[in-house]
Amino acid sequence: MPGPRAPRRPFQGRRVVLGVTGGIAAYKAITLARDLTLAGASVDVVLTEGALEFVRPLTFEALTGRPAYSSLYPQGDPLLHIRLARDAHAVVVAPATANFLARAAAGMADDLLTATLLATEAPVVLCPAMNDRMYAHPATQANLARLAEFGYRLAGPAVGPLAWGEGEGPGRMLEPDEILAHAGRALEGATPLSGKRVVVTAGGTREAIDPVRYIGNRSSGRMGYEIAAAAWRRGADVLLISGPSPLSVPPGVELRRIESAEQMLDAVRSALAEADALVMAAAVADFRPADAAAHKIKKEAGTVPQITLEATADVLRATREARRPGSVVVGFALETNDAVENGRRKLQGKGLDLLVVNDATEPGAGFEVDTNRVVLLQPGQPDEALPLMSKAAVADAILDRVDALVSTASSVGSADAKVDAGAAEARG
Ligand code: CTP
Repeated sequence: MPGPRAPRRPFQGRRVVLGVTGGIAAYKAITLARDLTLAGASVDVVLTEGALEFVRPLTFEALTGRPAYSSLYPQGDPLLHIRLARDAHAVVVAPATANFLARAAAGMADDLLTATLLATEAPVVLCPAMNDRMYAHPATQANLARLAEFGYRLAGPAVGPLAWGEGEGPGRMLEPDEILAHAGRALEGATPLSGKRVVVTAGGTREAIDPVRYIGNRSSGRMGYEIAAAAWRRGADVLLISGPSPLSVPPGVELRRIESAEQMLDAVRSALAEADALVMAAAVADFRPADAAAHKIKKEAGTVPQITLEATADVLRATREARRPGSVVVGFALETNDAVENGRRKLQGKGLDLLVVNDATEPGAGFEVDTNRVVLLQPGQPDEALPLMSKAAVADAILDRVDALVSTASSVGSADAKVDAGAAEARG
């Protein structure tokens, strides 16, 4: 995954109010303020009185390059809370203590943060952080339920070591990179992918030679992981089917790990029953050893094992029947010559709505790099060559096309439904 260092969608040019309340996790809010700023947001930090016991405004000011606030009545600016609330594209409270949650649930406006919260129409993300018993208390749980009713998004808490090492249950604040992802989803708002089921495959497969050896490829999974992260950010419910990869699972994304092409086939087939879109970014092996040895092949002087290969199933072709009507299917093609002509053939042969063609010989494209240069092919449309971009930006370019295809599919679907309903009425 890319670090939070590059300006990127949807943070670039957006305003985020970062509320910090009085818990020990306030130290992580410092990293979050920096990450939001580096991602391109203008961050207005609002500290409660409790937060001032843990962290200082100056720290945030140095990282965001903007004033940090704590008073509801700053001299000369009595309407600060209204201004902050109106200008915000999102409000993120991290950490949100039990006391803060209680005040917010009661609709209080007795400090700058709660007053801003009442006055804003922007999406709100609350990141609870407290001792696990305080979190489990019915009072806190009732407050959280009420806050969810207000339409606030609750992010976390996680299970993990709490202050003083105690606590087995949830209470620990999410990590800054996870909160950044939640802030991104809130900033993105409703998109055509919101609530849709998107299945993404990523990484290479491993085909066993014996119990310890395999044939694999150099795919890192980066492109697919970026697509999964971006689809979740756009509001989708995302399943990532991944071959072995060192990358961490993007926040919010459900992971299913597989190893072989055959396991990939099974996983994709069963996921298609629910999928509104399938993005097949995995580098699935085309061949596998015909007879994997049951035991480790021994080295014997003067002999070298001969490995006979057989074809694996083509996942996209073999699962065509399992696709839901109207679902959108995206494939990738890694080519070394005649990229676009070969791509057009795959687009048709595999029944795809979009094919992303990579020329492996292009500098900056292909495996194990953060950038990619791709050509997008769609049936009946001219080729669209994109410039060299980060894989995160390529993921967004692909999802922009998927957004449009999903919207068309749903409007066609609803038109069909209306025609069906009309026909049924006429019959009735
Ligand atoms: N693919 C698949 N099952 C396979 C191999 C590939 O579903 N066994 C998918 C890939 O995930 C990708 C698309 O098919 O989305 C194209 O993959 P690519 O390797 O470029 O194409 P192949 O059909 O394998 O053709 P070739 O290797 O001959 O170029």
